[in-house]
Amino acid sequence: MVKSKVWILKKMFEGNAKASDFELEEEDVSDNLKDGEFLIEALHWSVDPYMRSVDTGLLVPRNCMPGEQLSKVIASKNSSHPVGNVVRAFVGWRSHTLITNVQLQGIGQMPEMGDLPLSLALGILGMTGMTAYFGLLEICQPKESETVLVNGAAGATGYIVGQIAKIKGCKVVGCAGTDAKCKWLKELGFDEVFNYKKVDLSEALKAAAPDGFDCFFDNIGGEFTATALKHMKQYGRVALCGHISTYSDQEPPKGEYPFYNMLSKQLKIQAFNVMQFMSRWAEGEKVMAEWIKEGKIKYRESITKGFQNMPSAFIGLFDGANTGKAIVSA
Ligand SMILES: NC(=O)c1ccc[n+]([C@@H]2O[C@H](COP(=O)([O-])OP(=O)(O)OC[C@H]3O[C@@H](n4cnc5c(N)ncnc54)[C@H](OP(=O)(O)O)[C@@H]3O)[C@@H](O)[C@H]2O)c1
Repeated sequence: MVKSKVWILKKMFEGNAKASDFELEEEDVSDNLKDGEFLIEALHWSVDPYMRSVDTGLLVPRNCMPGEQLSKVIASKNSSHPVGNVVRAFVGWRSHTLITNVQLQGIGQMPEMGDLPLSLALGILGMTGMTAYFGLLEICQPKESETVLVNGAAGATGYIVGQIAKIKGCKVVGCAGTDAKCKWLKELGFDEVFNYKKVDLSEALKAAAPDGFDCFFDNIGGEFTATALKHMKQYGRVALCGHISTYSDQEPPKGEYPFYNMLSKQLKIQAFNVMQFMSRWAEGEKVMAEWIKEGKIKYRESITKGFQNMPSAFIGLFDGANTGKAIVSA
């Protein structure tokens, strides 16, 4: 038997996630493998905003918190996954996991990493990178010299969206919740940045793009979206990626009705889930790795050390604690 540490969701979140919502338990995991099975040990875990959203259906009280990890195979009776292999595994907040045939569907191949850090497979070369890549290029379809707005711009998805938009020759406007994050976005090449906590949003958007935005990559939702839609150009394109500002709300969102702006400006607004592009991830990961090697895209991670700190790293997402991709390392 191997002892696995497992973070359990004690009860369904109410409002903001709190440390008391989680419990660390120990579980016995069999190392008496049957044919086809293998045992993995986590090296890195991803923490992501979707882990707070009840809409995903992934949260079950008294169950393990959901999520993706990067793990090493430590015992195997599966020739496709020999000992020493590294895999991406959607098995939740746990240290050790027995992968049976049933769980094989949660095991993903690694992208071609070259000599890049492995943990990037949970960020820029993984789910958030692909969200930025396909969300911007397929949904917004930005063209050279167009103006692109991205909020949550210093987060795991946003900072890649802005850099890809620059590669495509766009003017990029980004906003984030601290001056330090805004300064870093300027260093990455964003044309206009502002700290959304310090400005009147409508005035800041007008100042950054007096003629309005062609594309809007929306990570935040809620009131931000309603305001930003007023600043779209005719025939603008909006990728509804996420709405982190409302994930902890107990009531349905109140506030301004945004559909007037959608209609009057004939906007193309499309919500998307990165999983719809799953069959093309290898293509996106290859391009992203090339851009990194060519120095066209910079990457950044906020790494928290220690599995025991999973809850605080996760809660930090909602306090703006991370810059770039939030990762927990063993
Ligand atoms: N559609 C898809 O397939 C897909 C895939 C991945 C992610 N998403 C969504 O994309 C968005 C970004 O996700 P991510 O993984 O890249 O995470 P992330 O941006 O790294 O998320 C954390 C950041 O969000 C900002 N934030 C937190 N609460 C906020 C609030 N109330 N108002 C404004 N900003 C707030 C904070 O930055 P500041 O300091 O700037 O406030 C924080 O650092 C999320 O909404 C997520 O659910 C969707």
